[in-house]
Amino acid sequence: MLKEKILESSLGYALWSAPINNSKEAAIKSMLAKCPGVNRILDVGCGPGTNAHFFSGWDYVGIDLNQRYIEDAKKKHPDKRFFSADATGLDLDGERFPLILINSLMHHLSDEECAKLLEGIRPILTEGGRVIVQEPLIPSDDERLMRFLMKQDRGDYFRTRLAWDEIFAAGGFAVAAEEFYTLKLVGLISGWHMYSVLLTVSE
Ligand SMILES: C[S@@+](CC[C@H](N)C(=O)[O-])C[C@H]1O[C@@H](n2cnc3c(N)ncnc32)[C@H](O)[C@@H]1O
Repeated sequence: MLKEKILESSLGYALWSAPINNSKEAAIKSMLAKCPGVNRILDVGCGPGTNAHFFSGWDYVGIDLNQRYIEDAKKKHPDKRFFSADATGLDLDGERFPLILINSLMHHLSDEECAKLLEGIRPILTEGGRVIVQEPLIPSDDERLMRFLMKQDRGDYFRTRLAWDEIFAAGGFAVAAEEFYTLKLVGLISGWHMYSVLLTVSE
């Protein structure tokens, strides 16, 4: 499909996501402020390095399934490490991280794939490590424009807040902080509602 082809190119994805990135970035900054002193991060489903600019001076590793995104991210951020990998079967040669970012990846994954992702990242976290996740919430029936926009997204798994919390809990994670916001597209037009969380490994 033409839309898929365009979005799978880094430029196409950058143009599609540019209007919504501001609100997503504000939410990431807010969660990062709750993790002082951390300067090493794994960005899972990093796209073409969309969020890498936040982590200037950090030890940053980005992984994504899309090889073209990874090649472009490497060119844009030569000081950072990027690998093509499947997030549902992560193998990082024993590397561990105090912080993992999962920004808008999990609504591309089924419940089973989310379970594999969370199972795979638990051993990659250092003691007391945390995970920032932000994902879209399924709009209510009367939010017709949002429902239309949701159908334009490549992800097939928009979920309710309850469904997200169940996935996190089943994966062995607890929500330590949460924020809700609505993506702004242009002018008065809103995109969809977002759920941003800071997760810790459950006791
Ligand atoms: C909506 S984009 C988000 C990209 C980036 N995190 C951002 O904030 O712009 C979702 C990303 O997840 C990647 N992706 C989808 N399934 C994946 C998987 N199984 N493993 C790794 N990356 C995956 C896609 O290639 C895409 O780059």
